[in-house]
Amino acid sequence: MAEESRRSIGVGLIGFGTIGKGVVKVLAQNAGVIEQRLGFPLRMVAIADLDTETDRGVDLSGIRFDSDAEGLIAAPDVDIVIELVGGYEVAKRFILAAIGAGKPVVTANKALLALHGKEIFAAAENAGVDVAFEAAVGGGIPILRSLREGLSANHIDRVMGILNGTTNYMLTEMEQTEEAFEVVLKRAQELGYAEADPTFDVDGIDAAHKLALLTAMAFGAELTYKEIPTEGIRQLTPIDFELAREFGYRIKLLGIAKCHRDGGEERIEARVHPTMIPLGSMLANVDAAMNAIEVRGDAVGPTLYYGAGAGEMPTASAVVADLIEIARELQRGGAGPVAPLSYLPHHLVPKPSVALDEQSGRFYLRFTVADELGVLAEIAGALGENGVGIESVVQKGSLESETVVPIIVLTHRANEAALRDALAQMDELQQVKAPTLVVRIEEEV
Ligand code: HSE
Repeated sequence: MAEESRRSIGVGLIGFGTIGKGVVKVLAQNAGVIEQRLGFPLRMVAIADLDTETDRGVDLSGIRFDSDAEGLIAAPDVDIVIELVGGYEVAKRFILAAIGAGKPVVTANKALLALHGKEIFAAAENAGVDVAFEAAVGGGIPILRSLREGLSANHIDRVMGILNGTTNYMLTEMEQTEEAFEVVLKRAQELGYAEADPTFDVDGIDAAHKLALLTAMAFGAELTYKEIPTEGIRQLTPIDFELAREFGYRIKLLGIAKCHRDGGEERIEARVHPTMIPLGSMLANVDAAMNAIEVRGDAVGPTLYYGAGAGEMPTASAVVADLIEIARELQRGGAGPVAPLSYLPHHLVPKPSVALDEQSGRFYLRFTVADELGVLAEIAGALGENGVGIESVVQKGSLESETVVPIIVLTHRANEAALRDALAQMDELQQVKAPTLVVRIEEEV
């Protein structure tokens, strides 16, 4: 009884969009179970958003709602500030203001943390307050908590996964319906999956933001977003999905991070790109807006985390989980942050990266060429001269009326730099009519 009669914790929300609405709903509909776990209520007391007119369809009784974010941060009944504004400058200003006021912050802003995390976490450490961000990666999947807590006994070797719900939904739809990229993108936006700027999703940027956070947490490497080679899904067409299946693969946009531990030195390989993975693998069977992340530790072996990677209620679930953890800490006297990125801040150090050119693998190549005699010999010649062996060749759509055709090549294992040299050589040929699509094949999934 004594536990339950403690004071409540007041929450203030800045940014009342889709996820914010979900947070209000979860706090209201699960108030009972949250109090049973926490021992006291968690109450939304104030919301700030520039748009105070639109009816969000949620009950706001007892909650102040205006456009005054600074007032919200300063309010004595706001113990924890949630930042769901998104973007960089304004969100950063609010987060730093909350930290400056000694208030812990919960955010889902992976873009901001990937680029400005160092400054924000340093400010939080100096002020002795928490910054929590479970919702920033994998939507509702508690992947960050798993890395920080459940796997903290391990050296992590590899983190690999489907980190963007929008593109996974789009790839699934494009494969199943053979619809065009623009059509499925519009549908993803209507379903509320896509970022405000959809290029963040379709060009792999959102996945790279998330991979930067995962890389830091998994390997103790300083945030490296700008060093992550990133490719999106714009170039994929129905023919690629059809051929992937014929070759025994599905195409997924993967974030891949590995720690190479050679002779005491740690080097980090991190990349985001469409990847062909074996049809029977678990990641290949993750469809629609779902996310899945595999983490391999030296003691635990492979582990897999699956769930809704985007959307109102799953993302709100992660935000509220952070609120509960922080509320518990505040109630105990608030010792402040320990290691938001899993490693103690002074053990989070820059680590050299492994360049793409150093890597080897098998590749799916789609050439767009003039349907002329001898073009296949030119392709084989350029690849062969650079040491890239051919495993299979398929030509599609060789109708007499067509003058430009796709030629698909599956390579043997080859060095990426050698492949790039071969492609650069081929781009010079007048028979090559468009940039060649390269999709990496990853067998060990
Ligand atoms: N746009 C993101 C996605 C939202 O599609 O995964 C969740 O981070």
